[in-house]
This record gives sequence, structure tokens and C-alpha cells, in this order.
Amino acid sequence: MEDNFSMTSEDDSSGQTVKRRISIIHDGDHGGDDFITTLMALGRPDIIDLLGITTCHGNIPVEVATQNACLATDYKPGANVLVYEGASKPWKIDSKQGDNAFGENGLGGVEIPDPITQPSEIPAFEWLKQILQEASSPITICATGPMTNLALLIDAAPELKSKIESIVVMGGCLSPIGPKGLQGNITPFAEFNFYMDPDAADFVLNCGVKVILFPMDLTHQFVFTSPRQVMAAERLGDGLGEKIIQIMRAVEDLDQPSFDLEGAVFHDENVLLYLLDPDLYRGKWMNLRVVTDSESERHGQLVIDHEASTEAKVYLVDRLLNSDRAFELMLDAFAPLIRRSE
Ligand code: RIB
Ligand code: CA
Repeated sequence: MEDNFSMTSEDDSSGQTVKRRISIIHDGDHGGDDFITTLMALGRPDIIDLLGITTCHGNIPVEVATQNACLATDYKPGANVLVYEGASKPWKIDSKQGDNAFGENGLGGVEIPDPITQPSEIPAFEWLKQILQEASSPITICATGPMTNLALLIDAAPELKSKIESIVVMGGCLSPIGPKGLQGNITPFAEFNFYMDPDAADFVLNCGVKVILFPMDLTHQFVFTSPRQVMAAERLGDGLGEKIIQIMRAVEDLDQPSFDLEGAVFHDENVLLYLLDPDLYRGKWMNLRVVTDSESERHGQLVIDHEASTEAKVYLVDRLLNSDRAFELMLDAFAPLIRRSE
């Protein structure tokens, strides 16, 4: 079944479509594109109510991810968004070697001051439990890193699944892409987030909560090309604007030899763009699994579950219909933050 699965619009009593504000938690490993994704959420309080940020291992050690998430919140003083530090290692396996995609500071070496915001002393696991328990309506979780925090939570407190509206995820890759036909950016078969914690990814995809999945074969449809860089420079100016551009360009050479792209890929940003405008995307409901056999060269690979007997719970997004419009939306989201920082 293919359709446009919309979650931000609903009909009011007169039959008119109205936008409603979405309460979200951003769970990420806060390297460059996670950082940019948080900035976009902070820049669109008209649609996004960012309740808090939980961090995990991934691009960088979790302590650095926490610092970067705090830094992002500094750009929206008064937003009162706290950062909760989460898992420092995968759920069931030893930590794997990352790809150092965004360098040691996770922001492509872009020089940014120490954060003013301090992280909460409450661990991510405790805070997630508490906020979901107390929620009067279900919350959307944006997951842009390895999903260790979410697997730990749902495994320990499955009764909280009813408090989760959906989990919007960046991870995996279903179809071979690029001239080499690769299905991964960290191994030939596995995308980074799912590779770093395959057990968590497989568990979350099949836990019964609605998952909206943005795999790498989708994110590769959205690239920071030279014309977009010129456009961004014109619109965002100096200061924070310049830093945003540097961060978004930071990985442009990383995937080049494998995928022959025209610039850096926007991965995590799609998760937030989808919440801002679901009509930009199309997908289909599927049953999916992640290879959890740590002896296999396919460890962390996203695969179709042909034997599934249950109703499909994963909405696999496979098409970005208008990448220019998506890019416009990104630039619009930065605007209020840039005004504040200059
Ligand atoms: O494979 C892309 C993912 O890994 C993104 O979440 C990005 O942050 C990278 O590290
Ligand atoms: Ca990420």
C-alpha cells in the first residue's frame, strides 16, 4: 500500500485542514546533522514543541553529543529545552568503531564556543520514562542516532508504548545506491545508525509502535549542492549562518568515493522536514528487520521481513517529491535563530 501518511494535519469541524503543533523529543547522537535538526526544531515553534533532547553514543562519544545538543539550545535562549544524557554504548553488543564522520567535535571541526546551557542531571532513561508517564497525549520521538535509549526504555517499560505517537527514524538503507550499488555507508550492507546498534534498531522497528523510517536510499535524494550553498550563503549571512553552512558541508568528501554525489547528503534533517511538511514525502507500509547476527558481514543491514504475519508497522519513506521546497523549509527554519545570534 502506498500513500501519503500525514500526521501534522487534521480536519476541523468545518472540514478545513488545519495544522496542529506536534510535541516531540529529539533523540540523537548530535554530530553535525543531528545538531542542524535540533536547530530546525527550535526555529519552528509554530509547528514543533520540542520537549527535550536525549543523547546517545554514535557519531562521537555521548558526552560530546550532549555538549553539542546543549550548544544547539543556546541559539534559542528562553526556549527552556533541556538535554538529557543517554546511552554511552550499544544495547547488547560491545561498542563498534564509528566513522568519525564529523570529526572529533562532531561538528566538522567548526569552531563553536563552549555551551552555556548545562545538561540535566537526570539520565535520559529516567526522563523519558517520566515524561511519557505524565503525558496527557502521545508524544512523537525523532530518532537520528543509534536507537539504544529507545530500546532500553521500551524493553523496560512496554506499557509506555501507548504514550508514543510515532517514532520518526533516520536509519538503514533498503536499496543499493550509487555506482557501486552499496547498501551502506559504514559497511557495504549497513547504514551507520543501524550498524552502531542493530539490536536496538530491530527491536524498535518491531516493537509495535508506529515507525516512520527515512533510510539512506531516501536521504541520498537530498544533497547540499553548489547552487544550494550559494543560496544558503545569500540567505543566512555571517555568524551562525556561516557556521551552519560549514557544518552542512562538513561531510561532503566522506561519501564522494563511494556514492559519487554532488555535495554532502542531508540525512537527519529529513525527519524534522517530514514533521513540518509530510506532503514532501511518499512511502509505503512494510515489515522490516535488521540483521542482528554479529558474526555476519551483514550485521546492521535493513531487510524486508517476507515472513511477517503481523500488520506492517513501519512506514518506509522512499521518495522526496520536491527537494528544492525541502531546502527552502530548512532555510526558513534557521531564520529566527540567526536573527537572535546577530
Ligand atoms: O548514516 C547517517 C547517519 O549517521 C546520520 O544520523 C548521521 O548523523 C550519521 O552519523
Ligand atoms: Ca545522527
